[in-house]
Amino acid sequence: MNTKSNTTQYKNGRLFMENVDLAAVAEKVGTPAYVYSAGQLEANFNAYRHALSSVMSEKDFTLCYACKANSNLAVLSLLKNLGAGADIVSGGELARAIAAGVKPGKIVYSGVGKSEEELTEAIRRNIFQINVESEPELELISKIAVKLKKQVTVSIRVNPNVDAKTHAKITTGKKENKFGIDIKKAPALYARAKKLKNIHAAGVAVHIGSQLTSLAPFRRAYVRVAELVKTLRRQGHDISRVDLGGGLGITYKDETPPDLYLYALMIRDVITPLGVHIVLEPGRSIVGDAGVLLSRVVNIKHGDAKKFLILDAAMNDLMRPSLYDAYHAVLPHREKGKKAVYDVVGPVCETGDTFLTNETLTELKAGDLVAIMTAGAYGAVMSSNYNTRPLAAEVMVKGKSFELVRKPQTVQDLVKNDRIPAWLK
Ligand code: LLP
Repeated sequence: MNTKSNTTQYKNGRLFMENVDLAAVAEKVGTPAYVYSAGQLEANFNAYRHALSSVMSEKDFTLCYACKANSNLAVLSLLKNLGAGADIVSGGELARAIAAGVKPGKIVYSGVGKSEEELTEAIRRNIFQINVESEPELELISKIAVKLKKQVTVSIRVNPNVDAKTHAKITTGKKENKFGIDIKKAPALYARAKKLKNIHAAGVAVHIGSQLTSLAPFRRAYVRVAELVKTLRRQGHDISRVDLGGGLGITYKDETPPDLYLYALMIRDVITPLGVHIVLEPGRSIVGDAGVLLSRVVNIKHGDAKKFLILDAAMNDLMRPSLYDAYHAVLPHREKGKKAVYDVVGPVCETGDTFLTNETLTELKAGDLVAIMTAGAYGAVMSSNYNTRPLAAEVMVKGKSFELVRKPQTVQDLVKNDRIPAWLK
């Protein structure tokens, strides 16, 4: 799939998202600000839908958008209107999915440490499935289900011991990772589930990592899952669903992720013969290239060896470069002009607060606007208040209009919950 954004582009030398000049957004809401394209979100979601429908019937799969990538209610509600379900990992994400109108029957709950309170809420709501990560969790679910007099459908998340060949911090399917049940030990857990009350282990779930740019590790994991489904069926388990985890990687710089149609064909070859309902949980590839982080140049500092372009956005707004050494292109709002080489940094007091090193950009001055690209996934959701920096505004663009979809925080919002103990006063 070519996930290169086609909705954020230069028009007459100025950077636009859809038909909105990004300068107009910056003027209205200030910077830093996350801006999302409704059109790109829609195109990305429909790309999955069409690719899968080319190899199977619509009723045989559910696309559960991974809310963790971007859980703004506007994003969730737009995707819900297109038919998306939700993959959630916390009680907070459950509340967001419900607030956005996602039907509980289309919600899957993943995550390695769900609390009793969170599970209770999910069971009370009759969600589609809970992806179980351990035997104690299975037992806890059964206990809660009995108490609430509910029948709960679960999938067991297996760890297929496949190297996803992605960044170490986002790989999940190797045996040394904390996720899932060792695939070899899985049959014992299904046997245990059968003995537990009010629980039906109807599925197998797998997720080997994020930002995968080749199909081979997916295929390897899915083949192992298919073998497990056959083994479980031979042992008398009624397995009717398979959850294939997160989606494909995207292009940040020069990555070439696989085509979605090839991915769909591979699923048809490996999984469709099982005759199961398929769940996919894509996150990054739905929102990644649909978002930018708008920022203004605070000033330019001429170091001995370098020219530092200091932005008003920082690692607290977009953590990926400092956390994973991730590359996010920076596009000046004004396309043309003399070029200069910069280290693009934020104002936070850490050397790690660096977006780009030795990057050639159109020459910029204080006050100029830039867009940090491909920031729609794992951007706003991972931001923090480090350095007492309020969370940025979020905006959604549709055609030639745009709307604030999250108010920016104020410093007052941050300070108001602190308390000075009486003995210090
Ligand atoms: N399902 C499960 C069980 C997951 O753990 C994840 C991502 C997804 C689905 C969605 O995967 P995607 O389609 O987005 O690849 N913060 C990191 C990414 C962490 C991904 C965690 N799990 C980053 O910024 O690269």
